[in-house]
Amino acid sequence: MSHGVTIAGTGSYLPEKILTNDELSKFVDTSDEWIVTRTGIKARRIAADDEHTSHLASKAAERALEQANIAAEDVELIIVATITPDTLTPATACYVQQQLGSHKAVAFDVSAACSGFLYAMKLAKNLIESGSFKNALIIGAEKLSSFVNWKDRTTCVLFGDGAGAAVLRAAEEGEGRILATDIGTDGKQTHLLNIPGGGSACPITIDNAGERLATLAMLGKEVFKHAVTRMKNSANTVIERAGLQAEDISIVIPHQANLRIIDAIASRLDVPNERVFVNLHKYGNTSAAAIAIALDEAHRTGEIKKGDKVVMVAFGAGLTWAAAAIEW
Ligand code: UT7
Repeated sequence: MSHGVTIAGTGSYLPEKILTNDELSKFVDTSDEWIVTRTGIKARRIAADDEHTSHLASKAAERALEQANIAAEDVELIIVATITPDTLTPATACYVQQQLGSHKAVAFDVSAACSGFLYAMKLAKNLIESGSFKNALIIGAEKLSSFVNWKDRTTCVLFGDGAGAAVLRAAEEGEGRILATDIGTDGKQTHLLNIPGGGSACPITIDNAGERLATLAMLGKEVFKHAVTRMKNSANTVIERAGLQAEDISIVIPHQANLRIIDAIASRLDVPNERVFVNLHKYGNTSAAAIAIALDEAHRTGEIKKGDKVVMVAFGAGLTWAAAAIEW
């Protein structure tokens, strides 16, 4: 008899270098006061030049595997969610497979921006439930510092680097399980948040090299409005599918983009702020890595305990959104 799919381990990795708002203000026309008031971010991590997205991903993955007590060579599926791959091809997951020594694993990337980790979770859950794989390593990893325009104060203050991972496998009796998932996309809004250059639509050439087109561009106010509505709806979808009420939810782990967005969602879901996990003051917005890192921190600090009902909800470029309800 199937008991669903459980999260057997979590892990995260943040690069050592911390860039505070005050340090950033020395080379960008901004201030700690503006960034904290508008976003809640106080610092972000910056990966070293020779530290690629795959390296961040592999370090987070090793910690998750250790906790799950699964050997790297026994991993059957690796999905890396990222918008900052090491290379356009092959997929970052292929580098991760090699770095971990998970040579039997099928490995591919998912590109769903900040919703990517929860897209990967839904895919992995369904693939395990269908019997295709016994276990899966899902990773959200980003080196956004390589894709921000450090001359654009409206975006560069927001993002940071990092990775988080989770190991999924078939649940045994009495173990926690993923109760419900939801994912969605609105391709009419691709213009609101994108990296316009570096793809086939706009290759970087000698003529446009100075325009920094391979960096994140965002219409922040528009994105903000969509973020609140889409995340509220997606969270409510999984809460309903899981048969939960607001008061059953032990902790909400929302995408870490802006404290004002997080507060707006908490109030719309009727969940008090103390049951909403926040770490964006330390790391900024790490896109696909954000929820994965937050899940690991909440788990390792004991904020998530056995039997807790956890709701994760994300939103990002695409536009994409996703949510998951879990019984821990
Ligand atoms: O992860 C994917 C999802 N992403 C998001 O969810 C992000 C959603 N958007 C946001 O979080 C917010 O829209 C931002 C934090 C990006 C911007 O906050 P805002 O309250 O919408 O500010 P704004 O863009 O309307 O800018 C207000 C003012 C402008 O000046 P004027 O035109 O009022 O004179 C900007 O030029 O703030 C100025 N400004 C800055 N000032 C100091 C913009 N960026 C900065 C800055 N430092 N870094």
